[in-house]
Amino acid sequence: MEVVIVPDAAAGGELVAEAMAALLRRKPDALLGVATGSTPLPVYEALARKVRSGEADASRARVAQLDEYVGLPAGHPESYRSVVLREVVEPLGVSPDSFIGPDGAADDIVAACAAYDAALAAAGGVDLQLLGIGTDGHIGFNEPCSSLASRTRIKTLTERTRIDNARFFGGDIDQVPRHVITQGIGTILEARHLVLLATGEGKAEAVAQAVEGPVAAVVPASALQLHPHATVVVDEAAASKLKLAAYFRATYAAKPDWQGL
Ligand code: F6R
Repeated sequence: MEVVIVPDAAAGGELVAEAMAALLRRKPDALLGVATGSTPLPVYEALARKVRSGEADASRARVAQLDEYVGLPAGHPESYRSVVLREVVEPLGVSPDSFIGPDGAADDIVAACAAYDAALAAAGGVDLQLLGIGTDGHIGFNEPCSSLASRTRIKTLTERTRIDNARFFGGDIDQVPRHVITQGIGTILEARHLVLLATGEGKAEAVAQAVEGPVAAVVPASALQLHPHATVVVDEAAASKLKLAAYFRATYAAKPDWQGL
C-alpha cells in the first residue's frame, strides 16, 4: 500500500479531492464510495470547490454510501443518508437518483443488506472508496474481529465508537444507535481503489497498526494490506507512530507526477 504523509487535514482533503476529480475526468460516471464522520469533510469541501470553479465535473458521478445507522427515523439529520445528501450529493450537484445506500429503516434488515450488496454489484462496483478509520481500527463500521471476508450486514457498535460518535448526537451516547448496516470488509475490498484518510493524533495508533502491523481481524483496517491499490493519506499527527515514515516520505517525494494516487 502507498502511504502519503501530508502537512495537515486541508492538504489531505485537497489531495484526495484531486484524485476524485482526476477519476471523474477519466470516467465521468464513476461510482464514488463515500464515508461519513469528520475526517472526509475537507475532501468534500475541496471537491465542491473544484466543481464550482469548473476544474471537476460531478454531474454524471454516482455516489454510494459506506454504512448507515439502524433505526433512525427517515430524514433524521444524523442518518448517513441525510449526511451524504447534505455534504456530498447536493454540493457536488450529483443527481439524488445516482445515490445508493443501505436502508437502515427497513423492517427486514437482512434483506436490506443483501439488496445493498446486489445494488453495488449491479452498479458495476465502486471505483474509488474513501474510508476513515476508527480509533479502534474499524473501517466502515466493521468493528474489531469483523470477518475479513464479511459482506454487508448488521453490526453492533463498540462502546468506544459510540463514545466517539456521541458528538454528532449532542454529546449524548444514549442517542447513538447501537446497530448499523455496514459494507463488509470483503465488500469494501472489491472497490477498485481504496483511499483511507486519517487526521489527528487520536488516529496515530490505529494507523500504525493498520499499516505496519499484521493483517488481523482485530484491526479491520489492516485488510487494506490485501488490496492491490490502497492509498493511506495521513497528516503529520496521524503519521506520528509510523516507524517507516521516512521511507514513505522519500517514496512519495520521488513519485512521478503522472502517476497520481
Ligand atoms: C463513517 C465510517 C467510519 C468513520 C470512522 C472515523 O461512514 O464508516 O468508519 O470513517 O469512524 O470517523 P471520524 O472521521 O469522524 O473520525
